[in-house]
Amino acid sequence: SEIYLNGLADQQPPFTTDPTALEAAARERLEDGPFWYVAGAAGSGATARANREAFDRRRLVPRMLADATERDLGTTVLGTEMPAPVLLAPVGVQSILHEDGELATARAAAATGLPMILSTAASHTIEEVAEANGPGAPRWYQLYWPNDDDVCASILDRAKKAGFTTLVVTLDTWTLAWRPHDLDASYLPFIRGVGTAIPFSDPVFRAALAKPPEEDLISAVLQWVPTFTGTDKSWDRLPFLRAHWDGPIVLKGIQHPDDARRAVDAGMDGIVVSNHGGRQVDGAVASLDALPSIAAAVGDRTDILFDSGVRTGADVLKALALGAKAVLYGRPYAYGLALGGEDGVRHVLRSLLADLDLTLGLTGHRSVSELGPRSLASE
Ligand code: FNR
Repeated sequence: SEIYLNGLADQQPPFTTDPTALEAAARERLEDGPFWYVAGAAGSGATARANREAFDRRRLVPRMLADATERDLGTTVLGTEMPAPVLLAPVGVQSILHEDGELATARAAAATGLPMILSTAASHTIEEVAEANGPGAPRWYQLYWPNDDDVCASILDRAKKAGFTTLVVTLDTWTLAWRPHDLDASYLPFIRGVGTAIPFSDPVFRAALAKPPEEDLISAVLQWVPTFTGTDKSWDRLPFLRAHWDGPIVLKGIQHPDDARRAVDAGMDGIVVSNHGGRQVDGAVASLDALPSIAAAVGDRTDILFDSGVRTGADVLKALALGAKAVLYGRPYAYGLALGGEDGVRHVLRSLLADLDLTLGLTGHRSVSELGPRSLASE
């Protein structure tokens, strides 16, 4: 209500409150490299567009006189209590967008209470981000699974010690996709503080580098690539992660019900239905279209998280109605970071929460746990 009253009283927000206008606002502010780093997608962008079309195609059906004046957005996912079913998606090298990078995001996440998922490819160290996030704030860690087991064990150990509780293993980016925008407008020169980035700061990985990244960024990146990408792991390697992580493990990038079943059968605690915001396979199924069959396959056996294309409160509700327990929010907060640092991320997150709260009530729900297929019009 604070946001709403400020708006009505003509107290201007730092930048647009419309999440669908953030990309255009960022386009005006950012140079080509940083802008396309966020806005870009795989190939022709067909899947990134399909992600949005899948949301637009589905419609909520509001119910009246449902006594929804008191509402509860809170939920618990894999033991993490959160004030709303929203987490900050892992977004790598955020210093490309703002000098405070992940530190700003970690502070903004803590201010809203929403869990942050820190990327392996962050521009600040695991320990610095944990400190910025604060002792009580919920945080999860995203793994780009290194080919070197010692590097992997070192990273996981540091993340555990820094208070990250759940491990999110991204499976869909075992090699970088064909992303024409990255080739047309390079973003590497915009990384600030390369010594701590992606994660050259890890002592085990750093010891293996031919030259420190501060001296020769390109040769360091050329060593990063074979360590952090290049090999598609197999299902039988999952016990390695289990042996090195005490908390819940979630597999990110699941798009087929058979893979979802396999993840659950392998003892994984959760999955993220995601196509990486359309950044990996151009022409892949829209993430929201993949969700119902996956929910039917494993929804009663695991917690399903969802991302790719979520922009508004209504989008969050649609994903919940189709079987997600919570969503990951991606590009919008990255644009918020670019436009206003910590305050910018906070503005984007608070706006989403306010939208979600109002839309939850106006559709006749008192709690996010009430969403289901009946909340949507039949297609
Ligand atoms: C990402 N994403 C991502 N995912 C991941 O597991 N590790 C990472 O380091 C990154 N980095 C990254 C950078 C940028 C600039 C973007 C836009 C995305 C994918 C991210 O976690 C999420 O899956 C998508 O952003 C969801 O799609 P939307 O909400 O951006 O459409």
